[in-house]
Amino acid sequence: MKAESPFNDENSNPSDNPAFDQVLRSRLNRRSLLRGAGLVGTAAGTGALSACAGIGQDQGPALQSLGFGAVVKHTADKVVVPEGYTAQVIYALGDPLNASTPAFRNDGTDTDFGNRAGDHHDGMEWYGLDAHGKPSRTASLRGLLAMNHEATTDEKLSSFFLHANGGTTTLPRPATEIDKELMVHGLSVVEIRSDGKRWAYQQASAFNRRVTTMSEAAIHGPARGSEHLVTKFDPSATRSRGTLNNCGAGRTPWGTYVSGEENWFGYFFRDAQDDERRKKDKQVQALKRYGRKAGDASRHGWESGGSEDRFARWNNGALATSAKEDYRNEMNTFGYVVELDPYDTASVIRKRTAMGRMGHENITFARVSPGQPVVAYMGDDARNEYIYKFVSDARWDAADAEPANRLAAGDKYLDKGTLYVARFKSDGSGEWLELSMNNPIVAGSSYFEFKDAADIAVFTRLAADAVGATKMDRPEWAGVNPKNGEVYITLTNNSARTPATTDSANPRAYTDLKVGKEQKGNVNGHIVRLAEGKPADTAFRWDIYLFAAEAGADKSTINLSNLSDENDLSSPDGLVFSKATGLCWIETDDGAYTDQTNCMLLAAVPGRVGDGGSKTLTHGDRTVVTHVGKPQSPATFKRFLVGPKGAEITGITETPDGRALFVNIQHPGENTKMADIGDAAKYESRWPANAGYGPGQRPRTATIVITKNDGGMIGG
Ligand code: FEO
Ligand code: CA
Ligand code: CA
Repeated sequence: MKAESPFNDENSNPSDNPAFDQVLRSRLNRRSLLRGAGLVGTAAGTGALSACAGIGQDQGPALQSLGFGAVVKHTADKVVVPEGYTAQVIYALGDPLNASTPAFRNDGTDTDFGNRAGDHHDGMEWYGLDAHGKPSRTASLRGLLAMNHEATTDEKLSSFFLHANGGTTTLPRPATEIDKELMVHGLSVVEIRSDGKRWAYQQASAFNRRVTTMSEAAIHGPARGSEHLVTKFDPSATRSRGTLNNCGAGRTPWGTYVSGEENWFGYFFRDAQDDERRKKDKQVQALKRYGRKAGDASRHGWESGGSEDRFARWNNGALATSAKEDYRNEMNTFGYVVELDPYDTASVIRKRTAMGRMGHENITFARVSPGQPVVAYMGDDARNEYIYKFVSDARWDAADAEPANRLAAGDKYLDKGTLYVARFKSDGSGEWLELSMNNPIVAGSSYFEFKDAADIAVFTRLAADAVGATKMDRPEWAGVNPKNGEVYITLTNNSARTPATTDSANPRAYTDLKVGKEQKGNVNGHIVRLAEGKPADTAFRWDIYLFAAEAGADKSTINLSNLSDENDLSSPDGLVFSKATGLCWIETDDGAYTDQTNCMLLAAVPGRVGDGGSKTLTHGDRTVVTHVGKPQSPATFKRFLVGPKGAEITGITETPDGRALFVNIQHPGENTKMADIGDAAKYESRWPANAGYGPGQRPRTATIVITKNDGGMIGG
C-alpha cells in the first residue's frame, strides 16, 4: 500500500488495554531522550527462553546457506538482482486478459479494465497446471497466478495515471473516471507459462479472470444473514458486491486462494449528520473504531458519481428509513478474508466472516495434521492493532488436500471455528485470548454490546479491545516456518509508539533523521516470532526474530540485530517461507530509509525461538525487557533485490520446484506529482517501460519472475 496516506494505516484504537509489565514500567532513572537514539539498551545474557527451545518437531526443507552475493542498496530506477540471476517483467497493470481486448496504450486513454490486469499487484499464489490443463501440485512450467490488486496511485481523489489528463480532483467526480477506478481494484487470475527459458502470460487463456469491486460475493460464516449486513442490494444479507483493497494473500491446505481486505474503510463516505441520525445505533462506536468518522472525505469520492447504485453504495450514511433501502451497512460487507477457487472462473468468491473483520493483511496456515483443527494466523495492519488466529471446528482430513469441490472444503474448515487474539507477556510467554460468546469477558462486556457470534465476526476489533489484546506496531504478513512450525509476523513500523507505550513485544521508540525529516516511534519495524506446542494451543513462547534498522544505527539501542550494509532494511512487510528451500523471504514497504535506498527483498536462513537472549532497553525514565533472536550476519541474512524508485516490494510466490520466484513491484513512481502528468521527464519512475516492457512512459505496477541463470533453486 502507499506508505503515507490518510486512507491507510488508520490509528483508531482508543482502548486502554491492561499493561502487562507494570513493574518494569515504573522503574525510573531520569535519562534524557537522546536525539537519534531515543532509548538506551543493555545486553542481559541469555534469557529464560533458551531453556524452553526445542518444542516443535523438525521436518521439511532447510537450506543452510545463502549462495548469492548481496545486492547493494540503490536509489536508481531499476530492479537489481544478484549476479547469476535474471529478473523479467511478465504481467503489468492494464495487460489484456482475453484475445479481444486491445493492447494497453499506457497513456490514460485505456478502458475496459474489467478485462485487464488490475493495479497495485500485491499478495499472490501459484496454482500449477499439468500438460492437459488440469490442476497439479507439482507442475512448475505452466500455472496460474492468483493475485490481489490492492489500490491505485492517487492524489486528491484521482487515480491520476489512469486518466489522460490526470483526472478530476474535486467533487463530484465524473462517472467515466470512477468506472475505471472501480474496475482496477480486486483480484486477477492469469495463466503463465515457461518454455524453459522465458516466461510469458497467456493473454487468451480461458483460466484468466478478474474479480472487481462489482463482482458478486457470497457471505459465509456467522455474519451470514446478520442485521449488520442488510443492504438495498441484498436485504437477506447473504450476498454482497465486490472485494476491496486486497492486500496479503494465502493458500489454503485444500488448494484455494485467500485474500485479505485491508484499508477498505477509506473508500466510504457518510455525512457530518450521520452520527446524530443513528444516535441509538451501536454501530456509531464501531464506525469510529474502524476509521470512518462522520463527515470525513472518502479516498476517491466514488459516492459522487451519480444516483446509480454503483456510486450510491459508497455512501454508507443512514439516509433512508431502513437498512433495506440504503447502504448504511455496505461497509460491513468488507473487511474479511475472501476465498477464491482460482481454477474455476464461474465460481463466486466467499467472504469467510468467521475469520473476523479488520484491516486484514495476509493469511497463513499452520502445517496441517490429520485429526487436528486447521489453524490460520492473521495480522490487522494499522497502528496499535492486533495479531489473530483462527482455529477450525472441523478436524483435518488428509483426503481434503485434493477435494472434489474446493470451495466446499473452504466451507467445512473456515465457516465454523474460534477466533483468538494475541497477548504478549514480558517473560517471553503469551496467550491466545478467545473471542467468542463462551468468553464471559466478551459476552458480558460493558465496552460494547455483543449479542452473538455475528457481532464478534463484524465488530472483531472491539471484542479484541475488550479482552485486553496487546497493541502491536502494525501487524503485516505472517509466515509459518515449514521446518518447525514457528510463526513469524512482520510489524512494519509505528509512528504512534512512544517511549511511554513501549512494551516487551514492541520495545523500541526512537528518533531517526531522514533527509529533511525527523521520524519518531518504531521507525524501522521488527519481526516477532511465536512457538506453540501444537497450532491449536492457547499458549505460546515468543521472541523478536529481527529488529529492522539502518546499519549505522546504535547497536545497543536500535540496531539490535547487528545488521550491516549487506542486510540492513526498514519496514518489513511481506514475509513468506519457501516450501522448496525453507528460506524466509522478507519484503519492504518503506518510507523511512528511502533517502538511501529503494525498497527491497531479502532472504534469511531462519533460526528458532529462543536462539538469542534477553535485552533491557531504557526509555528515559523507564525500562523494558525484551527477547531478541540470534544476531544476524550476511551468512544467514542477505539482500536479494532492490526495486525501482517509489515502489514497494510485495507479494511473493514460487513454483513447486523452487526454480522460479514471482515478486510484485507495487506503485513505482508513487511520489510523482499529479501536476506533472503531462511531462514524463518529471515522473519519479518510468519503470517497467524503461526495462523494455510495454509502451508509454507512465510507471506501472508489475509482476516479475526471477530465475537463476544456471537453472538452480532460487537463493541456494
Ligand atoms: Fe497492504 Fe499492510 O499493507
Ligand atoms: Ca534515516
Ligand atoms: Ca503490505
